[in-house]
Amino acid sequence: MTMEQNLLDELQTAQKVDPAAATGFLWDFWYPAARSSVIRGPGLVKATLLEVPLVLGRTDDGRTFAMRDACPHRGIPLSYGRFDGKNVECSYHGWKFDGCSGQCVEIPSLTSQDKLKVERIFAGHYPCEEHDGYIWVYMREAPVRSEVAVPAAPKLVTFSEKYKSTHLACDLPSHVDQGIIGLMDPAHGPFVHQSWFWRSKTSIHEKAKQFEPIPFGFRMSTHSPSTNSAPYQLLKKMTGAPVNTTIDFILPNMRTEEIRSGKLWFSSLTTVTPLRRDLSRIDFVAAWNVPLPVAIFRAFARTFLRQDQETMIRQAEGLKHNPRLMLIDDADRPAKWYFALKANLIEARRTGGSMVHPMDGPVTLRWRS
Ligand code: FES
Ligand SMILES: [Fe+2]
Repeated sequence: MTMEQNLLDELQTAQKVDPAAATGFLWDFWYPAARSSVIRGPGLVKATLLEVPLVLGRTDDGRTFAMRDACPHRGIPLSYGRFDGKNVECSYHGWKFDGCSGQCVEIPSLTSQDKLKVERIFAGHYPCEEHDGYIWVYMREAPVRSEVAVPAAPKLVTFSEKYKSTHLACDLPSHVDQGIIGLMDPAHGPFVHQSWFWRSKTSIHEKAKQFEPIPFGFRMSTHSPSTNSAPYQLLKKMTGAPVNTTIDFILPNMRTEEIRSGKLWFSSLTTVTPLRRDLSRIDFVAAWNVPLPVAIFRAFARTFLRQDQETMIRQAEGLKHNPRLMLIDDADRPAKWYFALKANLIEARRTGGSMVHPMDGPVTLRWRS
């Protein structure tokens, strides 16, 4: 039995015996729940992350919040309720909850005789932050208040004051793991992303890239990108400076890419977020100061994303029948690192020990693409 088959079997066994791992989700991380633009007015917006129904809103003073979309009284979704800019009023018995803390502030049926401590009741509630045009929600395994400190939400890196930016998203009918290993799969490019402006199947050639471990992930070390791509050649011509790119993958679901050449730069952040175990969403945000109109960039990026999406829709057709899968060296090594990072994190959390990184140092991977 090969090592990768062992790893896959181990994962499958782990998922069978540990109900918390059955979904394969990673809790206690930030995920983008929705675009900021969907919560402009006073309305409440539904979202789903990790199979948790959420209701999102924005208070009068502009703060966004995320609650579990279920009233703690009888479970009716709070999103059917009314929101006055501060409190959410449940549509069933009118209990009111402070949007930003989830704390109950009123139970209309109580009389002056009642001793119930209203302020001790909380609706499920998650830390929420807004930036890069997203509402980020920290998906705690225990949704009510907890003393454990919440780390800062992920942020797109930018290198100058002025820049252009854009967002794209698409749904994948797949488990988040498939979305993620597709995201960092180096070998599908010449087959899935064939196009006149990028490269053709015949431009395929051998590559060697160095990778290094970083906390919770790995980095494709800073390098000059392949010269068979027209956009990189153009960039080099514009600045006269070498083009450098760095690509990181960081748990639970994030790929960042930085391209720099002289004063010009491009930066992107891509996440694959589990909505359900059979549905994920890719969110892509990019910023740049290279002279590239938003509309043109969007057209290219959308083509890329659509090609990936179409492929994953087809893949889902095959995965329905639970085929045995393979991870091969070296092209699938990043996927192996992802599964190992994930398993090691779950193990570290279970035992309270420190997380073992699956890489013990820099390593060069070789593949043709
Ligand atoms: S179900 Fe919400 S107040 Fe009763
Ligand atoms: Fe792709």
